Amino acid sequence: MSTAAARKRVGVLISGRGSNMVSLAEAARGPDYPAEIALVISNIPDVAGLDRARGFGIATATIDHRPFGKDREAFERAVDELLRVNQIDLLVLAGFMRILTPWFVKRWEGRMINIHPSLLPLFKGTHTHRQALEAGVAEHGCSVHFVVPELDAGPVILQAKVPVLPGDDEDLLSARVLVEEHKLYPAALAEVASGRARLVDGVVVRG
Ligand code: GAR
Repeated sequence: MSTAAARKRVGVLISGRGSNMVSLAEAARGPDYPAEIALVISNIPDVAGLDRARGFGIATATIDHRPFGKDREAFERAVDELLRVNQIDLLVLAGFMRILTPWFVKRWEGRMINIHPSLLPLFKGTHTHRQALEAGVAEHGCSVHFVVPELDAGPVILQAKVPVLPGDDEDLLSARVLVEEHKLYPAALAEVASGRARLVDGVVVRG
């Protein structure tokens, strides 16, 4: 049996430039990487990340959330159906800026991960780099976690730290964190896709 046959099929949800998705697609080119990026879905039409995915030969789709109005679950049912049709095993959120309902999170429990630009549990939500600067912390970073219904509260799989330096502003700090995100996310996805990190009873079990 070849390694390729055992690879997990990964769907990636994006809302924008897709630089984390690119880091995953690059990692998945490796013959021993335990996952392939099989589908990229954006909830925003025409974002740069869709073009970048097509550049890797990855299938893409747009499911615009706006026609669904306030019915978040109807939007998610459309996403879920596309994931099912494409036989997706694992779901990766990469700059996907929609809050997911408990219905969807439950469906993908243990099979959905997210990257967040802070050292969780610090600085949940948006503007994490601004939050870090305002708090005056000496260290900042990023976290990959399993997704649970509460926003940015899921069990952490891996984290990476960066120093906060004198003279930092949001742009400088976010660029420093993003370099680490691009290494952390492929490493964390490999842990999950290989089964080395699993969500069991709400905690990450390793080995
Ligand atoms: C990344 O910094 C990611 O951590 C963040 O959005 C950016 C997306 O960039 N995600 C969140 O804030 C989720 N709450 P990308 O589209 O270039 O990957």
